[in-house]
Amino acid sequence: MMTTKNSTSKQEQEHKSTTITPCISSHQSSVDGNEDDFSAEVPLLSKEEQGNNLKEQQQNQRLEAIRHLNTGTGVMDVAGGSGFVSLALALKGIKSTVIDPRENIGRLPGRHRKYLRKIIKTDAEKVNQERKRKSDGGKNRIEKMIILPPPPVQFSSLRAWFATRPDGVDVSFREGCSTTNNSSITNNILVDELSGNGMAGLHEGQNKKEVIPLCTICSPDKLLPSCTAIVALHPDEATGDIVDFAVKYRIPFVVVPCCVFSRLFPNRLKPLPKNENQICIDTQRNVREVVSTYDDLIEYLVDKDETIKVIKLDFDGANLCLWSTF
Ligand SMILES: C[S@@+](CC[C@H](N)C(=O)[O-])C[C@H]1O[C@@H](n2cnc3c(N)ncnc32)[C@H](O)[C@@H]1O
Repeated sequence: MMTTKNSTSKQEQEHKSTTITPCISSHQSSVDGNEDDFSAEVPLLSKEEQGNNLKEQQQNQRLEAIRHLNTGTGVMDVAGGSGFVSLALALKGIKSTVIDPRENIGRLPGRHRKYLRKIIKTDAEKVNQERKRKSDGGKNRIEKMIILPPPPVQFSSLRAWFATRPDGVDVSFREGCSTTNNSSITNNILVDELSGNGMAGLHEGQNKKEVIPLCTICSPDKLLPSCTAIVALHPDEATGDIVDFAVKYRIPFVVVPCCVFSRLFPNRLKPLPKNENQICIDTQRNVREVVSTYDDLIEYLVDKDETIKVIKLDFDGANLCLWSTF
């Protein structure tokens, strides 16, 4: 059976415990028997004001999280393919880099690319106007307290294998036929505008086979040492490496595994069952089964660190999400 740990995060618990409680009631003075002493009175907040305070708090937390995620090299969208996860992050104003060996890395379909480009342009104008209006003095308290969401940003791409290139992987399928060894980080809008086709660094006549680089903690791209989080949606063969890497360097991560690739990874063994004290039970003289099903894979990955939690996402298919903020 698959083991799922308690998915209530520390942040959720903290959030619950900081939920606003109603202010001290104005009845307090009559309880004290001093009805004329108004100095200790704190006015009651109306339901609307309480709601606004809570909203403000949540907005601040969200902005704080985005500010944090945008420090250093930002979020790594590992095995990000054409960049749909990065698009979602970009629209929330979170900077990210897609890391993937495939040829059309970060190349969103035309209409998504145009949408992002347009929204970045119009939002920048809108945000500037809004900032100006606010700095001229908002009309009322509510208006002043509205914090503007960060503007959408462009995401980058790095054509590279994450951590390792597993033995036995179908390289021509993953890397494509016309490969280019361009390990520089590419801004997708720039590439799109300069080359017109969005192929990261693909130049005329450069279709000879070259080695796609590895992105590691010490690779020249310098992306991983100061990244703020790793996200990976259905990262195929990269799944195990991503979790190992995040656990080793204590980098917050969110991974949604999909395929198992049991033939590619015959050394992945299911963890031994544990008793209620989390002590391994050696039922079959240390005979451990090879990870061969989706549930096995989740169990194997969760076992890599005690902080890893599992939540189910709201879509069909491979929808279990493993995460940790360590
Ligand atoms: C199923 S696709 C998912 C793409 C994207 N995350 C999405 O959900 O649209 C799996 C991706 O994993 C990439 N991949 C496989 N092994 C990888 C590795 N070691 N490093 C980086 N990317 C890898 C593949 O090139 C492919 O683009």
